[in-house]
Amino acid sequence: MSGGRIIALNLALIGAALIVVSSLAAGCGVKLPEEGSPQALLYRERCTECHDIFRPGAMTPKMWETILGGLDGESRRGHPAVPWAERQALLEYIMRHAHRPGASKG
Ligand code: HEC
Repeated sequence: MSGGRIIALNLALIGAALIVVSSLAAGCGVKLPEEGSPQALLYRERCTECHDIFRPGAMTPKMWETILGGLDGESRRGHPAVPWAERQALLEYIMRHAHRPGASKG
């Protein structure tokens, strides 16, 4: 009977290890602000269609405006327009977490 218990324990450990590995792979190594929220999920999905993810905090609001256009603006700098219905939600999310030099938390 004790042998069976050891096997069961081993299976539980292997299962736990698999869960850790698969959640790391899904995250692709980049942690987003509000991770798991609908907007963060949307950002992760939409903004990785053509390239790896950029953290919102990697750019200042001005840089984001230049790259993606403002809330109502056209995209510039050769970045393709972002025509999805979720454009506004995405830009709000980005701007909320953009890098603000001097601010304690962006
Ligand atoms: C349709 C394909 C596509 C989608 C979708 C897309 N991008 Fe891009 N992105 C590109 C291309 C192409 C470039 C390189 C263009 C350039 O040199 O500016 C780029 C470049 C960038 C850059 C670097 C710009 C620079 O000047 O260094 C950032 C930041 C960026 N994208 C953010 C985003 C974000 C945020 C989203 C989601 C809202 C997004 N992208 C969605 C195609 C895409």
